[in-house]
Amino acid sequence: MQTLFTREEIHTRIKELGDEITGIYSPFTNEIMAVCVLKGAIHFFSDLVLEINMNVLYSFVQVSSYSGAGSTERVKVKSWLDESIYGKHILVVEDIVDTGITLNYILGYFAKYKPATLKVATLFEKKAHRKVDVPIDFVGFEIGDKFIVGYGFDYDQKKRNLPFVGVEDA
Ligand code: IMP
Ligand code: MG
Repeated sequence: MQTLFTREEIHTRIKELGDEITGIYSPFTNEIMAVCVLKGAIHFFSDLVLEINMNVLYSFVQVSSYSGAGSTERVKVKSWLDESIYGKHILVVEDIVDTGITLNYILGYFAKYKPATLKVATLFEKKAHRKVDVPIDFVGFEIGDKFIVGYGFDYDQKKRNLPFVGVEDA
């Protein structure tokens, strides 16, 4: 296992993102609702909201993507919003945007519920396999074509609790 980002590096970047997010929203609101996309974003979400200097309401959705028939990818909803997002300032907090399919699905549904604003923060972005062009407002790190584990990221549901982000040695 090689460390790609230490816990300290992740935390330093998250502090910057928190400041950036606070700066973007504060001219027009003092309250947002952050929606954690489980399971992968759990640690990013919990560290990020602590760095946002305004009221942050919490909400959670759990989705997973899987390969359907042929090469189509599908998104399975395991749990969904438990309260209305209508008229609220919604910040979707994702772990990583890879093909963009998961985020595109979430944003498509959320937009129908008419939030006041809809923005996205993701800890990582991979551009190599992008299939859907999704708008992302706040990006922690852009990474190349590698598979990461730790700090919420799993390999077959394992390794999520590594306290750093790593890549398996080839
Ligand atoms: P999408 O391809 O953008 O729809 O991303 C789907 C999901 O795949 C992400 O939300 C992650 O949960 C997972 N994923 C993508 N890349 C990685 C990775 O490098 N490590 C672990 N999970 C990943
Ligand atoms: Mg995810």
